[in-house]
Amino acid sequence: MGLSKLIALVVLLDLLSSARVARSEFDDAVGFLQRAKEPDFFDWMVGVRRRIHENPELGYEEHETSKLIRKELDALKISYRHPVAVTGVVGYIGTGKPPFVALRADMDALAMQEEVEWEHKSKAPGKMHACGHDAHIAMLLGAAKILQEHRDDLQGTVVLVFQPAEEGGGGAKKMIEAGVVENVDAIFGFHIATDTPIGVVESRAGPIMAGSGFFEAVISGKGGHAAIPQHTIDPILAASNVIVSLQHLVSREADPLDSQVVTVAKFQGGGAFNVIPDSVSIGGTFRAFSKDSFFQLKQRIEEVIIAQASVQRCSATVDFLDKDHPFFPVTVNSKVLHRHFEKVAAEILGASNVGDRKPVMGSEDFSFFSEVIPASFYYFVGTMNETQGPMHPPHSPFFRINEEALPYGAALHASLAAKYLSENHALSSPMKNIRDEL
Ligand SMILES: *[C@@H]1O[C@H](CO)[C@@H](O)[C@H](O)[C@H]1NC(C)=O
Ligand SMILES: [Zn+2]
Ligand SMILES: [Zn+2]
Repeated sequence: MGLSKLIALVVLLDLLSSARVARSEFDDAVGFLQRAKEPDFFDWMVGVRRRIHENPELGYEEHETSKLIRKELDALKISYRHPVAVTGVVGYIGTGKPPFVALRADMDALAMQEEVEWEHKSKAPGKMHACGHDAHIAMLLGAAKILQEHRDDLQGTVVLVFQPAEEGGGGAKKMIEAGVVENVDAIFGFHIATDTPIGVVESRAGPIMAGSGFFEAVISGKGGHAAIPQHTIDPILAASNVIVSLQHLVSREADPLDSQVVTVAKFQGGGAFNVIPDSVSIGGTFRAFSKDSFFQLKQRIEEVIIAQASVQRCSATVDFLDKDHPFFPVTVNSKVLHRHFEKVAAEILGASNVGDRKPVMGSEDFSFFSEVIPASFYYFVGTMNETQGPMHPPHSPFFRINEEALPYGAALHASLAAKYLSENHALSSPMKNIRDEL
């Protein structure tokens, strides 16, 4: 072989090998979106979403939903663990080795009656997928299908987390207790957004959703005739003053630049116009953006209720109900994963379609994953079609979803995971190998 031929061969081999590297690093993220928009693929996701929408199930009761997910995973030849946290399913795609990156979807519906009249309306009276978790499942299955088609190129393992009971049941916490994310290095979660156009995604680095807790207090006095107050100890007046005093916690004690909420949403007492009751019960929620502020607020709520009730000679007990409703931590997005998200999303959607999301005082049980996994990231997938006007927000009985948004969630979830693995493969494997052997 002449020298020039040898050089040509070397150059050719070099080109071939760099082409392989390029493919395995998923430079063609746009291809994922095109794949998810192909009619067969799209119709399959829509079908999955509609079947789940017709049969909504509440937290820890997602038995049929879980079965449907497992059937789809079987069809895709993806192995999984089940049951986890009652109805949860955890699938695995890739090498089975580190690094591990998780993608999460929630599965539960809400206890409310659907008011939208359409072909696939909820068939379960008093239950509705009014928060879009049916779409989240379809998107995560879509991502799973894309990733399974590229499984030989994955440089690590994608963990598919289908979790029960997001709506107040702490399903994420139960999944963590079952050990499903023990080796996971990073996790991505999403929620559909009704105030953001289709094709646009949004998030931010740092805190994005608040920590949240509930409280309930019983304020006790001494009941009696409403016309003879001097012989009673009136808990209605005491509870009223308690509520006013609670409103001073945020307005007078919190840093105005550190957002917090105290809301009394429940006030129950008395039953007649002419009887002062023995006791009154009040309850509500409190929110904050840091652990310190959250626990400071919790302590002050208890102190204020007891002390203010005593001003009117009443006694009070305060219960934070955290056994049945664990406090939701603050959802905090990793800075590194935010950069990853901005880069990957811009490649697929164009930089102008990757937006900033203002933090909200709502909370998400994804935050439990945030607390235990080294890096976590939560983002929003737009579902608004501007030509169709404004949408009803989540938890409305008129809530509906534009299914055209499904391919965006599927493709972005898949690319975030695949690219995370290619970029972190070299970094995390030596340490991981040591940990695996221990
Ligand atoms: C928005 O809706 C219109 C008609 O209702 C449709 O033609 C269009 O494709 C939709 N846009 C997107 C992004 O789905
Ligand atoms: Zn919800
Ligand atoms: Zn939700």
